[in-house]
Amino acid sequence: MTTPDSQGQTPQHIAIIMDGNGRWAKQKGRPRAFGHKAGVDAVRRAVRACGNAGVRYLTLFGFSTENWRRPAEEIEALFELLRRFVDADLEKLHKEGVRVRILGSREGLSPDLISIIERAEVRTRENSAFFLNVAFNYGGRDELVRAAKAIAKAAKSGDLDPDQINEELYSSFLDTSDLPDPDILLRTSGEYRISNFLLWQCAYSEFIFLDNVMWPDFDETHLQMALEIYASRDRRYGGVKRA
Ligand code: IPE
Ligand code: IPE
Ligand code: MG
Repeated sequence: MTTPDSQGQTPQHIAIIMDGNGRWAKQKGRPRAFGHKAGVDAVRRAVRACGNAGVRYLTLFGFSTENWRRPAEEIEALFELLRRFVDADLEKLHKEGVRVRILGSREGLSPDLISIIERAEVRTRENSAFFLNVAFNYGGRDELVRAAKAIAKAAKSGDLDPDQINEELYSSFLDTSDLPDPDILLRTSGEYRISNFLLWQCAYSEFIFLDNVMWPDFDETHLQMALEIYASRDRRYGGVKRA
């Protein structure tokens, strides 16, 4: 958990709702899938920029539990991009010491996609230079429900006393169990909402909305803008302003 003590000028964890791929493509008269493809290049830029800036944890929202409402063709294009991203980038990320994790439910994902996810996680699990988390088939409410179910089962089987349940224990049942809470929640594209992302973990995150940036255009200068905004914020965690 992020505590006031871990607060510094450089955030340790940034979470991003990568939004605006579809509008970016539309502006160019191209299909939505073209925007998603360009979005993967922006992911690569974001990882590099965070690494250069000294940010150690990056969590990206790639596919939400609500994105199943999209046309089948678009869903398949997004799944295909995850497959290709792992195929093309896994070894490079591994060499750079990046630990890759996929947050979210495996339910509804095809066996081949699940095995690709597992390959990425197993290959990089000893790494600790940088932590890249991709939230895929992820919903904050779904995560909270899955955690509640697992806790209830542990209580029912006698492995856990309900009186032991506190915030720390609850956190340990989430997909993000060993990750610090995000210092920044960043969203591109001019939408001002959380869209079911990291509901528990963003309790004290600084929300930053980049109005005029569609995700495929995201680069290091936008990260720098976010870092400057973050540095100007005063995080109080319910306390009083720091001297
Ligand atoms: C974000 O871009 C990518 C995903 C949700 C996977 P969108 O596809 O939501 O793009 P817009 O919001 O329609 O422009
Ligand atoms: C949130 O974006 C999900 C991802 C970025 C993966 P959406 O574009 O799906 O969110 P809404 O529908 O605008 O809230
Ligand atoms: Mg969107």
